[in-house]
Amino acid sequence: MAEPTDISGADIGAIVEGARKAVAAADTSEAVRQVTAAVTGKKSDLAQISRRLGGLDADERKELGRQLHEARTTIDQLVEARRSEVAEAEMAAEMAESRIDLSEFIPGSMPFPASRGRLNLVSQTQASLEDVFVGMGFEVEEGPEIETDWYNFGALNIPPAHPARGMWDTFYLDLGAPESTLLRTHTSPVQIHLMERAAADDLLPIHAVMPGRCYRRDTPDARHLPVFHQIEGLVVDKGISFADLAGTIEVFTTAYFGPDIHSRLRPAYFPFTEPSAEYEVTCTICLGSGCQTCSQTGWIELGGCGMVDPAVFDAVGIDPDVWSGFAFGFGIDRCAQMRHQIADMRVLTDNDIRFLRQF
Ligand code: FA5
Repeated sequence: MAEPTDISGADIGAIVEGARKAVAAADTSEAVRQVTAAVTGKKSDLAQISRRLGGLDADERKELGRQLHEARTTIDQLVEARRSEVAEAEMAAEMAESRIDLSEFIPGSMPFPASRGRLNLVSQTQASLEDVFVGMGFEVEEGPEIETDWYNFGALNIPPAHPARGMWDTFYLDLGAPESTLLRTHTSPVQIHLMERAAADDLLPIHAVMPGRCYRRDTPDARHLPVFHQIEGLVVDKGISFADLAGTIEVFTTAYFGPDIHSRLRPAYFPFTEPSAEYEVTCTICLGSGCQTCSQTGWIELGGCGMVDPAVFDAVGIDPDVWSGFAFGFGIDRCAQMRHQIADMRVLTDNDIRFLRQF
């Protein structure tokens, strides 16, 4: 470095030019930081010249001080401009690196083919059953899954403490006053909603099916789930007989299971139908010879049915001397089980994709 008296504007100009080149060559933020320290820091040429100002006379000091200030200002501007250029370039590089190319996820270029979901077998079965009944002239209706005691039991001729309540033990949501609410144990309460509406709005006759979810305190086994599905059927018209019920079930069985599956009606008891019957089909797992699924009987119960009890007509305000009707309630999961020869119903809710993707 030159002695104070030798310091000239040319020296300072050379320092600025040197700084200009060094700053321009710095291509990372770290390099800019290092160059800045070298050209403006305590050990820089500019700093050393500044330290020697004290040895100059007043005029020289004033002139050199002005030149140093200009040089410093120029270098600061160069550094600042380069710092923001480099920072911008670095940010752009970082963004390019972390950019997500969404086109990688479009189906054609995925490493494995995208598989489409499908309806669970139970939903498919419900849709097929609805199709069969709509083809027979029924309409499809729905009702709530949370019911009052009256709709699930009372209006269906099952008063409190009636022994038949034992067959339909359920999950109570609010037991007691003013009236218990519960998860419905069957789809039969939808009959009541429908008949009440039809009686009030003069909408008789009724030909309807009512599919939906039901709940019971049943231990899961090969034929039972605590949450399952039923499809209810109700016909209220003039001059309806048990022969209409039997004929409807026969037509349904052939349409849904095909001609090889036989069905039978066995006398049974339901408080809301009189007479009542149980509807059974040949067990499709053992074809009638007896197996674990059908408890060695050769038959599987699909549902209950019967003629609407006059006490139910009374409860909903329909005149049993004018109107008669039949009702039935089949297990949708059971229908799926028998139609597809599923030995254990629990696989329907296991969510095992290997099983489900077969349907
Ligand atoms: C009833 O639920 C009556 N509401 C049916 C009825 C309707 C009778 C209209 C008369 C007139 P049941 O409890 O038997 O009946 O059930 C009918 C069908 O639902 C059974 O045959 C079976 O297919 C199915 N089901 C019943 N409980 C379960 C369960 N836990 N898991 C799977 N399916 C079941």
